[in-house]
Amino acid sequence: MNPIKVGLLGIGTVGSGTFQVLHRNQAEIRGRAGRGIEIAMVADLDVDRARSIVGDACTVVSDARQVIANPEIDIVVELIGGYGVARTLVLEAIAAGKHVVTANKALLAVHGSEIFAAARAKGVMVAFEAAVAGGIPIIKALREGLTANRIEWIAGIINGTTNFILSEMRSKGLDFGTVLKEAQRLGYAEADPTFDIEGVDAAHKVTIMSAIAFGIPVQFDQAHVEGITALQATDIKYAEQLGYRIKLLGIARRRDNGIELRVHPTLIPANRLIANVEGAMNAVLVQADAVGTTLYYGKGAGAEPTASAVIADLVDITRLATADPDHRVPHLAFQPDAMNDTPILPM
Ligand code: HSE
Repeated sequence: MNPIKVGLLGIGTVGSGTFQVLHRNQAEIRGRAGRGIEIAMVADLDVDRARSIVGDACTVVSDARQVIANPEIDIVVELIGGYGVARTLVLEAIAAGKHVVTANKALLAVHGSEIFAAARAKGVMVAFEAAVAGGIPIIKALREGLTANRIEWIAGIINGTTNFILSEMRSKGLDFGTVLKEAQRLGYAEADPTFDIEGVDAAHKVTIMSAIAFGIPVQFDQAHVEGITALQATDIKYAEQLGYRIKLLGIARRRDNGIELRVHPTLIPANRLIANVEGAMNAVLVQADAVGTTLYYGKGAGAEPTASAVIADLVDITRLATADPDHRVPHLAFQPDAMNDTPILPM
């Protein structure tokens, strides 16, 4: 069978990681997907840089719409980020009948309902494992592995930048500004680091997880969001003296009358596993009725960890693209018919 053809919109850190991992592991990936997966086209404003990454392996263009308009492309991978042009291009790709893979948590947390409705109407898939906790397969865990459970709560360290900052402030006594610059240098931070340090990035991610865990629409505007900018080195020191670590947690919790959706710095007893997640690592705790507590740990950012999640989605879509269309969309997209109207509680 011919390989399934993929078009990348944006080839920065995650895009080049995706290109490299797909090439390095192509035999295994072909075996698992049942078909080859080929990046046939890349759109990036910096055409020369894009070409230096992909060489002659595929067509490079500066206009993303050329990828969307290409009838040979089956899957569009959106790695542009942000709410603006990314939303327009994702909706255009769906309208053109392309399946979409995206790592864009901001886009899904804010415009997810519109995007999933459009995908459902068109009968295409939208997959987003890379949007939450990078290389940790938490979307699959919530949707597939824990599908038998009633989920009670999720609590996660889901922003590597802030966890790196809090870890370095505690262990090395460094000040906030110095560590933030280091996080930016290491490539953990968002293009606009206020999204990291003000808790917005974590809120995007926990909003997406809450929708899957509780069967509610994505409602970022209902989340309580508090970052780490008001924390001082002395807060971290006093917490330590009392036997606690401070972590920025994204929390989604089922209550009798609704769902709590919140991001804020949290005191955690220092002997808990999650209190010892250091540096830019991510960890997500899930409490569910049948399985009890499960913990997912790994790299939440970076080229190859995030590529690992993007490619997992490409493999899923490749497998499902040949399945009965009536059964494939609910597997990867939210299911509006099954959604409930449990409210998000005011904080
Ligand atoms: N800025 C994000 C973080 C990148 O620090 O976790 C991955 O979403």
